[in-house]
Amino acid sequence: MPSTLKDVPGAQPHGGALEIRMATPDEAADIAKGAGSLPKIEAKSRRVLSDLELLAVGAVSPNRGFMTKADYSSVVEDMRLEGGIPWSLPITLSATDDEVANLSKGERAAIVHEGKIVAVIDVEDIFDYDVDNEAEKTYLTTDEAHPGVAYLHSQAPHYVGGEVTVLENLFAHEFAEHRLTPLQLREQIAERGWKTIVAFQTRNPIHRAHEYLTKCALEITDGLVIHPLVGGTKGDDIPAETRMKCYQVLMDNYYPNDRVILSVFPASMRYAGPREAIWHSLLRKNYGITHFIVGRDHAGVGDYYGSYDAQKLFDEFDPAELGIQPLKFEHSFWCNKCEGMGSDKTCPHTKEDRVFLSGTQVRQMLVDGIEPPPEFSRHEVAKILIDDARANA
Ligand code: ADX
Repeated sequence: MPSTLKDVPGAQPHGGALEIRMATPDEAADIAKGAGSLPKIEAKSRRVLSDLELLAVGAVSPNRGFMTKADYSSVVEDMRLEGGIPWSLPITLSATDDEVANLSKGERAAIVHEGKIVAVIDVEDIFDYDVDNEAEKTYLTTDEAHPGVAYLHSQAPHYVGGEVTVLENLFAHEFAEHRLTPLQLREQIAERGWKTIVAFQTRNPIHRAHEYLTKCALEITDGLVIHPLVGGTKGDDIPAETRMKCYQVLMDNYYPNDRVILSVFPASMRYAGPREAIWHSLLRKNYGITHFIVGRDHAGVGDYYGSYDAQKLFDEFDPAELGIQPLKFEHSFWCNKCEGMGSDKTCPHTKEDRVFLSGTQVRQMLVDGIEPPPEFSRHEVAKILIDDARANA
């Protein structure tokens, strides 16, 4: 294991250092001893639990906990932490009136899940927030049909900010051999000698368009990290277990394993489109990634964002302060006349020559046991999706 991050290539962590908030087993035992009498805050959602894992492993460096009002307001209004460095989405812990009544600034509280203490927070700040303002600024809509906005409305009315120490990562056993922390991924990158590393964020199975983006990106970088998000997703997204089988079958049959790593990204989806694209890239920088794929409607949902709004948001920052390079891709598709993948940038043909299937169409085909065409999805992937759709029906 490298003694310092200076020994490993890849991007330096955002803000300069990896802030790993996981207690060592000894520290965890010590903290747990006195923790029974602490005031409690329930971790009320999968997203909070995912955020705890991101804090534990240092993926959200330089953040060391849930945001105080100063950081929260600065992030919501200006996409920067209070200190000025770019950060596009809040990391928040909500608490009820009853929970807040027992808290004091400067004291410790336990974060609990199903009766178990999973982390402690050194309370620095307790504040109220404006749901509509957070929604409008971060999701660009106040429509409660938007899953991110709906989440904001589901929260308790106060936020509690302060540094966190995580005692237990509840998800450590899920996809354990592919659950590389930023340090572990940096070690693998170092072992492989890669200097330029592109990450691919996805919440979907890898279809032909996704494969095309990743392979174009790999043509100009040393290595590719397929980095699927496996935290919480909305109900109609394909479950992570199914997706992992799809990624694995592609690793086995279509990707050069010496130039590709499959590792999971433990965040929960926010569906914040442009702001989430920036957030996704900053977290990947902490994993040692130098280049990040941003395609069509990255982290979007419904029609809330324009196809290339996420790409455009990167232009509002000085590239040096982001410290990770977006690789921007246009909408890609199979073209029957080209007999291959392309986009408007590379294919001169018309809509009629191109294979387009909407997410809804594909979902229906899978439920009906109909295989999407090979121009849309590899046969091996389609088979897994149909089998799992039937098993889960
Ligand atoms: S996301 O929520 O993780 O962005 P998805 O898994 O669909 O959703 O997309 C993963 C990445 O691939 C994103 O950067 C997205 O913009 C890009 N992408 C998905 N489909 C296409 C496509 N047909 N053409 C270009 N980019 C695409």
